[in-house]
Amino acid sequence: MTISKPLFVYLQRPDTGEWVTVGRYARQRDDEPGMFMYAPSYIDARLPWSVDPVNLPLIGGIEHLAQRYRGLHDVLRDTCPDTWGRQLLQREYQLPDNAHDSDYLRIARNGDRWGALATGAARKPSIDALRSPKLQQLDGLVEELQAMSERRPPVDARLRKMLMSTPSMGGARPKGTLRDGEDYWLVKPIMQSDVADIPRLEHFTLKWGTASGLNFAQSVHHQVGGAPSVVRVLRFDRKADRRKMAISAASLLSAEYPGGLRAGWSYPLLAQILQRIGAPLRDQIELFDRMVFNAIVGNDDDHPRNHAAIYDIQEKRWRLSPAFDVVPNPEMEPKALAMQVSAGRFDITREAVLADAELFGFKDQNEAELHLDALLDTIASAFPTVQAELPAELSTLLRDRLANGMRQLAARTTKYP
Ligand SMILES: Nc1ncnc2c1ncn2[C@@H]1O[C@H](COP(=O)(O)OP(=O)(O)O)[C@@H](O)[C@H]1O
Ligand SMILES: [Mg+2]
Repeated sequence: MTISKPLFVYLQRPDTGEWVTVGRYARQRDDEPGMFMYAPSYIDARLPWSVDPVNLPLIGGIEHLAQRYRGLHDVLRDTCPDTWGRQLLQREYQLPDNAHDSDYLRIARNGDRWGALATGAARKPSIDALRSPKLQQLDGLVEELQAMSERRPPVDARLRKMLMSTPSMGGARPKGTLRDGEDYWLVKPIMQSDVADIPRLEHFTLKWGTASGLNFAQSVHHQVGGAPSVVRVLRFDRKADRRKMAISAASLLSAEYPGGLRAGWSYPLLAQILQRIGAPLRDQIELFDRMVFNAIVGNDDDHPRNHAAIYDIQEKRWRLSPAFDVVPNPEMEPKALAMQVSAGRFDITREAVLADAELFGFKDQNEAELHLDALLDTIASAFPTVQAELPAELSTLLRDRLANGMRQLAARTTKYP
């Protein structure tokens, strides 16, 4: 499919909540890159927000050509579904396997879209409100998501319709958004193909991160009686009718995910970019800490679409988002992370995680080593405080993982039980 008509891009202003047309996207032919241009009205209004502070500087009259995703701009790609949502849309709209990313951008609705961007064919913003199930419908939602993933007919036709009209969130796992008061929660149930109780493991790990003093997304785990295990994670990009601007680390790194070259996937590089776009030093350090945490727990699915930044309107700057999708690999103990821990190195070793410490804002190696040792202590002492969230089998797995992680990352002289 080819976009010849422009697709208008809307932004919910982070200050007033008003929707404005921020620009337009167009792609004339399949073999041409897409073009994004800020709307003259947006430039004239002198609003300060670039939709992508790295790749789309706020300059009027310029046609920004897309460098990746076969011609879709990174930050627009961020608002598209990944494997799960695409599966739903592909089935509903009979899209070919090689459908362009921009087809998904156009078809996926704005209701549940990630961040504060939306799209439409009209010059003036028109945003459908998110109609999402309520917390009381959690059981039904889980059952419906499982039926969808197994290609069974609807259990509840209304719920199925609701879920089919909200396929925009990224990621591979089946998921839906539910509303509880002013909060929105991402719901991720267990699936038949799971080799372990992934929702419980995800919930446990988010709690462990929080107990280690890190900024991890809030989550709740449900499993009553014989009901399926499900985790819900608080959406940090939504509150009531307000959306927060969000950008993936893939976009910040000008790297493509999925696909793309791992050469650009890098924690120290991301730390530097965070600094460049105005995030405070503590976010760079937090990123270092998350890298170490991922190394310890063996989360090697820490790819650049599993990190993000959000715009904080009170502070008027970009901040590292809360950590999400942090799940230890349940099948094997990873020796390396998905992103580089220092230039050219992915390995989980003390030497590698410290090699580029200055790029995270540490004064010198000595300061970084002291910080790392204190962090390892904190992570290790937080484990028993959250261990009760796990069944025996997973608890043993994670205890061994922690012990091995400590052996790789702690100084030789440190003894951990
Ligand atoms: N707590 C959250 N708040 C807002 N957006 C989130 C949150 N968690 C995940 N996301 C967004 O949803 C996408 C999919 O969620 P994720 O937990 O990564 O699912 P999966 O396990 O399928 O990869 C992420 O890439 C991110 O864009
Ligand atoms: Mg993910």
